Amino acid sequence: MTADEAVEAALGALDLDTKARLLAGQDMWTLPAVPAVGLASLVMSDGPVGVRGVRWTADDPSVTLPSPTALAACWDPELARRAGRLLAQEARRKGVHVVLAPTVNLHRSPLGGRHFEAYSEDPYLTAETGAACVRGIQDGGVAATVKHFVANDAETDRFTVDNTVPPRALRELYLAPFEAIVRCARPWALMAAYNQVNGVTMTENRHLQTEVLRDAWGFDGVVVSDWFAARSTTGALVGGLDVAMPGPHTVYGDALAAAVRAGDVDEALVDRSVRRVLRLAARVGALEGAEPAVPSPPAHVDGEALAREIAHRSFVLVRNECGALPLDPARSRRVALVGAAARDARVLGGGSAHVFPARTVSPLDGLAAALPEGTELVHARGADLSGEPAPAGPGFALRAVCRDAEGTVLADVPLPSGQIQWIGADLPGGVTHEALHTVEVTGTYTPREGGAHGFGTRGVGAFTLTVGGRVLYDGTREAEPAGDPFEAFAGTPAEHGAADLAEGVPVEVSLRHTVDRDRPAPLPAVVFSLLHRPPRRDPDELIAEAVEAARGADAAVVVVATTERVESEGFDRADLRLPGRQDDLVRAVAAANPRTVVVVNAGAPVEMPWRDDVAAVLLTWFPGQEGGAALADVLLGAEEPGGRLPTTWPAALADAPVTAVTPVDGELRYEEGPFIGYRAWDRAPGGPAPAYPFGHGLGYTTWEYESLVVTPATARVRVRNTGTRPGREVIQLYVAPRADLAERPARWLVGFASVTAGPGARAEAEIRFAPRPFDVWDEEAGAWTAVPGQYEIRAGRSLTDTRLTVTLELD
Ligand code: BGC
Repeated sequence: MTADEAVEAALGALDLDTKARLLAGQDMWTLPAVPAVGLASLVMSDGPVGVRGVRWTADDPSVTLPSPTALAACWDPELARRAGRLLAQEARRKGVHVVLAPTVNLHRSPLGGRHFEAYSEDPYLTAETGAACVRGIQDGGVAATVKHFVANDAETDRFTVDNTVPPRALRELYLAPFEAIVRCARPWALMAAYNQVNGVTMTENRHLQTEVLRDAWGFDGVVVSDWFAARSTTGALVGGLDVAMPGPHTVYGDALAAAVRAGDVDEALVDRSVRRVLRLAARVGALEGAEPAVPSPPAHVDGEALAREIAHRSFVLVRNECGALPLDPARSRRVALVGAAARDARVLGGGSAHVFPARTVSPLDGLAAALPEGTELVHARGADLSGEPAPAGPGFALRAVCRDAEGTVLADVPLPSGQIQWIGADLPGGVTHEALHTVEVTGTYTPREGGAHGFGTRGVGAFTLTVGGRVLYDGTREAEPAGDPFEAFAGTPAEHGAADLAEGVPVEVSLRHTVDRDRPAPLPAVVFSLLHRPPRRDPDELIAEAVEAARGADAAVVVVATTERVESEGFDRADLRLPGRQDDLVRAVAAANPRTVVVVNAGAPVEMPWRDDVAAVLLTWFPGQEGGAALADVLLGAEEPGGRLPTTWPAALADAPVTAVTPVDGELRYEEGPFIGYRAWDRAPGGPAPAYPFGHGLGYTTWEYESLVVTPATARVRVRNTGTRPGREVIQLYVAPRADLAERPARWLVGFASVTAGPGARAEAEIRFAPRPFDVWDEEAGAWTAVPGQYEIRAGRSLTDTRLTVTLELD
């Protein structure tokens, strides 16, 4: 039996109620099984830096790769494909059929809260990276879900915002990565966004979901709603939405069967979506009788090694004065490592993209392991990133004790952190929501330093917090006034008191939470955290200590970072400043040590007002679980930093041409049209220059561009490594129309390739241009048209550092 026959046979055997149920989540992550037709329950999971699985807890860890911005900074589709294969491998290990990744929205504004989770400001780099990631996931027989369709480029009011996007910008920018990925990588699923586009909510947007996505591009997979995005039964089905997630309360299921019976919607539309779900099941091996698309998974991927490789390949060295990097281990007898994030590494962004790594290698761990014996490594905290308490982590040994109303223990399980996120049926030890009355997070805390430690809670409901036998809080926390549901769900952090603790002396801690079943919630969930804050230190003193450590050192490495309160989901950023006193810290350390290297641990741009006063600046994104090891590789020269900027890095927020993320009267107008990112920076000649242009990134060697030969569809570029080390070069191709015939950007990326060569050696790349390199979307004709004229094809190291140019005549 072919897969199509198996799908038709299963479809024919289903009654209306079962079909309608099959289009709705039965819980947070799964669709119902229908054993009678051999259909297993389809399991979905986020995406994109790892696969969390259906349990949102740290006791089921995931290999954690660098952030999507980092993957895009590699400019290497082959590497992105291997990342996808790792995700498939993790999905299979966790029984997941559908990975909710990649995110291919664009970096429209640097304030976008989920900037770190998207690839680039450029649609072609996004498309190439995303298509490779999809191919890699599906190589492993697991479905990729390209998201969020479309124009979900910011977070503010994301459930309701109407993004008004001119047709040309929609086609040339926001739809472009989806189109390229659908046409070339044939994803098996796609996620409809929360927002509206031009007045129609995406889950009901028939034009985009059916006419464009399916009819014009040939998408044959499943369209799944973003979580809680489906709002109308008939509107969504007619609009082309196949599956409404999560369950059990959705607009499909029983409501859909009733709508068919009432004559509001045609059963043929239900069949159409069920057929797609069955096809998906057949592809991933969840439908008996159908041969899966990939009968046996590809070779095993070493997750730790891949995470480390992507990390060092993604690091962007934006400044390196007088060969400050790599450090010379022979001449570095004392290295000062400064920064809170140097010890407590921030390896991934927050929100639904969050997974729990099995381990994290901090910069301190990485350098301590890699520095040769005899090198002294001193760490100084330097500055606190935030005065707020965060989920209990290092130093805590915790368990969760679940009890029923009589106080009988139902389960007692170890907890790797102070965070509880038990959603839907995801409760430990077979406990049910019906029986569960209290959850106590309990254990010990052994302080790394003495002083007044703050303790608190995150979450809503009744809590009793006890530290060392003293009750710090006993009361009820109310929900914040409705913000984004994701934030409202998690609650804002609250500190309830402090305890004076001695270094190294364990103290008993307990946070008891009484489950409130009367609180309205879309699905049963227990979500709260025990929070902790280390003793507050005088900020000037912390900086002084760091300066002291740096002064006598052969090199000072300062790690600066953002926090989960800056880069996460459900809100946008208010500014691009580094939190706390980190800017002052860098300035003070740089004044004390001319060999100061700043490592920026942020998923998206931050302002670096000190950047010209330090010896080197290395952007490391959210580097994933092996980030510290990769950092040591790069700092000490075992590896070359391979990244190039996937997005323009502004010097100051005020300079950035497109920043707005806040809707006005419910509407966010994309009034800049097709001019975002470098396309917008280029538009204001004489205006402020960015700190670092798109495509910029230094390696540890130098390159000469020797020749460029161009045809209308390809370019052949020859380069020579003119330095003393082997290296890797990302050759970038830009097109620049000689005359602005169609109100177009001054130049845009049309191709790239990487080559490697030893010192003195040459390398050559044959680069195919992006599809439609000279086209615009003709709004009147509703079609693509190539604009004749003269075009310069420029090859080089970044948008602004092109080395060779050839002119092409297009008629
Ligand atoms: C996010 C999606 C995610 C989904 C499931 C939503 O809030 O926007 O990216 O896949 O939750 O966690």
